[in-house]
Amino acid sequence: MTSLEDLPIRDDLRGRAPYGAPQKAVPVALNVNENTHPIPEAVAHDIVARVAAAILTLNRYPDREFGELRQALADYLGHGLDAAQIWAANGSNEVLQHILQAYGGPGRSVLGFAPTYSMYGLLASGTGTEWLSAGRDDEFELSAATAVAAVLEHDPDIVLLCAPNNPTGTPLSIETIEAVADAARGIVVVDEAYFEFAEPGTPSALTLLDGRPRLLVSRTMSKAFAFAGARVGYLAGDPAAIDALRLVRLPYHLSALTQAAALGALAHSDEMLAMVDEIRGQRERISLELSRLGFHPYRSGSNFVLFGGVDDPRAVFEHLLARGILIREVGIPGHLRVTAGTEAETTAFLEAIAVSAPNGANKMAS
Ligand SMILES: Cc1ncc(COP(=O)(O)O)c(C=O)c1O
Repeated sequence: MTSLEDLPIRDDLRGRAPYGAPQKAVPVALNVNENTHPIPEAVAHDIVARVAAAILTLNRYPDREFGELRQALADYLGHGLDAAQIWAANGSNEVLQHILQAYGGPGRSVLGFAPTYSMYGLLASGTGTEWLSAGRDDEFELSAATAVAAVLEHDPDIVLLCAPNNPTGTPLSIETIEAVADAARGIVVVDEAYFEFAEPGTPSALTLLDGRPRLLVSRTMSKAFAFAGARVGYLAGDPAAIDALRLVRLPYHLSALTQAAALGALAHSDEMLAMVDEIRGQRERISLELSRLGFHPYRSGSNFVLFGGVDDPRAVFEHLLARGILIREVGIPGHLRVTAGTEAETTAFLEAIAVSAPNGANKMAS
C-alpha cells in the first residue's frame, strides 16, 4: 500500500498530524466543548421548514454574498454593526482560515499564546504561514504587558487572541485586547468562540472595532448557539478588511441549506441561547467540586473547565471512558479538560472522577 512518505506532499506538511479529537459514540460526550443541550423542538420545526423551502431552489447556486444572513448576524451582534461589517463561513475554523489565507501565507507569520486552540497551528501550516508561539503568565492568564512584549518581540503579521482561551478557559481582559490591537502592526484577530458563556457584563472586543480597521472579531454558532453540526462561524470587522476575504473564499462557500438553517436559528436566538445560564451554572459546579476533590481548576469564562493536579491523565481519561464519559486530554502534563454538560451529564462526570481524586472518593458526598 502507498504511504504518505511515497507521495509528493508539500515538505512543510510532512510529519504533521491532522486535528484529531476522538469522535466516539458514548453516552456522555464532554470532549469538544459542544452545547450538550438539544435544539428546542419548536425551533427545529421552523428550521426544517426553511431548509425545505431552500431545497426547492437547489438547482441554483446560493447567494454568494449571503446578504440576508449577514444582516441577521449583524442584528444579533448589535453594537451598531451593519451587514458590510460581517463575514461568515462554514464554522469559525473556516473564517480563521480565510484570514490566514488573505493576510498570512509564505513569508508571513502568525502569533498565538500557548497553550491555545490547537487548530491555530494547523491553520498556519495549511496556509504556509509561520506559527510563532509566545507564553502566558501564571495560571494561564495573559496580561497586557506580557502580550504586548511578545507582539513587539516577534512583530507578527497576524496576532490570534483567544478570548476566552481554549483549552484553558481563561478570560482575556479588554485591556489586554486593546493594548495588543494598538501595539500590533498587522491584523489582530480576537476569537470569541465562547463569548456568550462569559460573565454577564463582560465587554466584547466588538466594542473596540470603531477606528481599528485591522481588528477582527470572530464568533461561532457552534457553542452557545447549539449549532455545531450546521457549521456556521462569523466575523465582525471593517468592511475593507472583510472585502479581502472575498479574494480567498471559494465561490458559493455557504450552501443555501446552511444559510437557511442559520437564518432559522438566528430568528429564534433567545430560545437557542436559553441554556447558556444553566451551562454556566454547571461550569461553576464543576469548578467547585473539582477543587473540593483536590484538583486544580482554572478560572473559566467558557463552557468548559481545565483542571490540573491529575497524576495520570491517561488513566483518568480511560477510567471515565470505561464509564461512557469522554473528556479531553489536551497535551498539558497533569491536566485534563471537561465540557460543562447537562446537569445529569455533569453529575455522571463528577461521580466518576471522584474515585481518581487527590482527596479521595468520599469527598463527593460531603
Ligand atoms: C477557540 C475556538 N475557536 C474556534 C473554534 C472552531 O469552531 P467552529 O469551527 O465550530 O466554529 C473552536 C472549536 O472548538 C474553538 O475552541
